[in-house]
Amino acid sequence: MQNECWGIILAAGQGSRMAEATGGEAKQFLRWKGAPLWWQSARAMAASPLIHGLVFVFPPDRKAEAEDELRRLDRAHSLGVRIAVTEGGARRQDSVRHGLDALPDVCASVLVHDSARPFLSTALVTRLADTLRQALPSGIMGVIPGLAVTDTIKQVDGAARVTSTPVRAQLRAVQTPQVFPADALRDAHERALREGWDVTDDASLMEQSGLSVLVIEGAPSNIKITNPQDLAMLNESKPLLPCCGYGYDVHAYGGDRPLMLGGVPVGGEFLVRAHSDGDVLLHALMDAILGCLAAGDIGHLFPDNDPKFENISSVVLLDHVLGLAAEAGLRLCHVDLTVIAQKPKLAPHADAIRRNVARLLDLPLDHVAFKATTEEKLGFTGELKGLKAVALVSAVR
Ligand code: CTP
Ligand code: MG
Repeated sequence: MQNECWGIILAAGQGSRMAEATGGEAKQFLRWKGAPLWWQSARAMAASPLIHGLVFVFPPDRKAEAEDELRRLDRAHSLGVRIAVTEGGARRQDSVRHGLDALPDVCASVLVHDSARPFLSTALVTRLADTLRQALPSGIMGVIPGLAVTDTIKQVDGAARVTSTPVRAQLRAVQTPQVFPADALRDAHERALREGWDVTDDASLMEQSGLSVLVIEGAPSNIKITNPQDLAMLNESKPLLPCCGYGYDVHAYGGDRPLMLGGVPVGGEFLVRAHSDGDVLLHALMDAILGCLAAGDIGHLFPDNDPKFENISSVVLLDHVLGLAAEAGLRLCHVDLTVIAQKPKLAPHADAIRRNVARLLDLPLDHVAFKATTEEKLGFTGELKGLKAVALVSAVR
């Protein structure tokens, strides 16, 4: 039975109007909040209770790479809807046609959206799909969001000479998503192909096919990133929120791992017992970073019964944790690290440890503090049974 509503996320354009400003990168692939721009509107769409699935349309030469990223993002922050991926075509309307071909048979209506409009709201998606559902019986075959124009619009010829002035009150600047019955939109695209129509939105095809399309109130914030100056809008996103993470770790002496701290070999007579390389300082640091993300701990991420992590360098594990942090849009600001050990004496290594941690985290040196202390011969560190480390990380997100 055809009863589902799907979205098509168009992300196969070249972004030629702002290629210079982005260094050649297509605008929908710009990184924003730790993910490519196309991910933002996908999330807004998928959050609507009326949406069952999404088809992503990527450039043919980037499809595999983009699909990998999509699956990874979906694993980390599930969209909660079904997903399909296909390749775009030369023109926008070709990409839409490919997207329509990738829809499942159960799809009854489809919202076509430009991923270059990342500020789409879920409320608009729901309002569009709901309006089509209600208006279908009265013969409406498409619902699109539009805004009244404030400028007077002129029609001009090739030499920029004014040929006419449409009545402003009758004009609407239209946006995406645009929603249609899937079969009707498919027919319109097939006809466009046969008859050589060239359009900039899907509603145009429906109009040219003689079908009625309704404009509802769009959202002023639902702008399309098109020209270089629009990039500024990506900077005016939500304010960053500060957060802190705390990490604590202990390793016993009496093992077989030479002592590493902050990725620096400290050496000496005390060998550490550990599954990984036993870098107690990087372990505390990773837990503190995961604390900022509220994403569990390293024991959970890198189980100590997994042979894959046997004697693994903690620098490699840290790299993975930093990848998660970047993906979540976390920006580290400052770390304060302390190792508690009676022996060995750490002062001779302090500078190297601090510099190495700053390098690993890509932080300025004056935002990495490293301290070492003893417990005055008390407790297990005092009895030379092991050592511990604590880390405090502050960050914004
Ligand atoms: N699009 C697409 N396939 C194409 C052309 C465009 O999927 N062959 C998508 C774009 O990725 C964008 C949306 O359609 O999300 C709207 O197109 P537009 O704003 O024109 O983007 P580009 O075509 O990428 O930019 P430009 O016209 O400046 O090259
Ligand atoms: Mg274009």
